[in-house]
Amino acid sequence: MATLRIPEEGQTLTGAPEVTRYLAEAGIDYERWDPAHPVAEGASAEEVLAAYAGEIERLKARGGYVTADVIDVTPQTPGLEAMLAKFSREHWHDEDEVRFIIRGRGVFHIHPRRGPVFALEVVAGDLIRVPRGTWHWFDLCEERRIRAIRLFQDPTGWTPHYTDSGVDKRYEPVCFGPAHLPPPPLA
Ligand SMILES: [Fe+2]
Repeated sequence: MATLRIPEEGQTLTGAPEVTRYLAEAGIDYERWDPAHPVAEGASAEEVLAAYAGEIERLKARGGYVTADVIDVTPQTPGLEAMLAKFSREHWHDEDEVRFIIRGRGVFHIHPRRGPVFALEVVAGDLIRVPRGTWHWFDLCEERRIRAIRLFQDPTGWTPHYTDSGVDKRYEPVCFGPAHLPPPPLA
């Protein structure tokens, strides 16, 4: 379940109804998906897409998405730093950014035209649709791991357009979750 934080207001939302409602008011679709059948840790991209075929088809019909693929990022991914640097600056796209998280996690920062910047930490089972034109940026959490289904209306429309506003520099990409709890005290 995603966690939503509004740094300016010192507020954190964790419940599904609260998070979904806040995102809906900002124009961001959020859903939780369960696979039609269990997906093994080492499942291929085809197996992952098959497990969520029903949800993917429903979303394609609704949003005009034509293709779906699976992106895999690990600490060993070649060119990881350069890739992350492209996502972590405020930008927008000519098409929706649709991601369903299968493994790992990361933080989307959304900068609405009206209202404060908020951070959404997405984890396995979360579907997020960031509409075209939305100002946003994305960071991975410490473990640098994410596996996600992506849906595209037109993959060429997904090029980032940078705002160069500098707003992204004001926010720490803080993640919650188990990896960020303090270690147990030494005996
Ligand atoms: Fe983006």
